[in-house]
Amino acid sequence: MKLVRTSADDLTALQACFFASVSVLAAADYTPEQRRAWVDLALNNAEDWRQKLATQFGWKAVENETVLGFILLVPQDNLVDWLYVAPAAANNGVATQLLRELERTARNLGMSQLETHASVTAQRFFARRGYEVVEQQVVEAGGSHLPRALMRKSLQ
Ligand SMILES: CC(C)(COP(=O)(O)OP(=O)(O)OC[C@H]1O[C@@H](n2cnc3c(N)ncnc32)[C@H](O)[C@@H]1OP(=O)(O)O)[C@@H](O)C(=O)NCCC(=O)NCCS
Repeated sequence: MKLVRTSADDLTALQACFFASVSVLAAADYTPEQRRAWVDLALNNAEDWRQKLATQFGWKAVENETVLGFILLVPQDNLVDWLYVAPAAANNGVATQLLRELERTARNLGMSQLETHASVTAQRFFARRGYEVVEQQVVEAGGSHLPRALMRKSLQ
């Protein structure tokens, strides 16, 4: 597996990975309606995704031309914005490696902290990597309410 910087050309492959990730890996924590609303919210914002891929710091984990997972850093917001892993690649350290690369870059950029809006599914992952819950949040999407937590880690 290798980590590669993303570009706007990756949009379709990343959205396919995102769809599978939410549909399968988040199934234990979110109802089918919640997962559909989560997916629709993102897939209906393709232009926002393309813009972020063109301007922010993204990485994809790739093996044999297949995207195993991806992550996005938005430096001006100190934000780990996306972190999604393909179901077939879960629990193999893909997200760990992606987050390590993002944090290395964040430190090189002089950032002192990182935040993320962690799904219920991802909270244990982030907690074990030094992120602490700042507040519980609920996002409204397509008539569904999706719980998540704002989590923060100091890089100092
Ligand atoms: C949360 C998520 C990103 C984690 O991805 P992942 O690649 O499975 O995570 P990792 O494999 O790096 O780590 C998961 C566990 O596998 C273990 N692991 C790490 N490397 C491993 C390896 N080489 N072999 C086996 N297990 C390993 C880790 O110990 C970790 O367990 P821990 O949290 O108790 O330490 C993934 O479940 C996901 O995409 N979920 C759905 C979408 C989502 O909720 N995204 C977050 C939005 S905020």
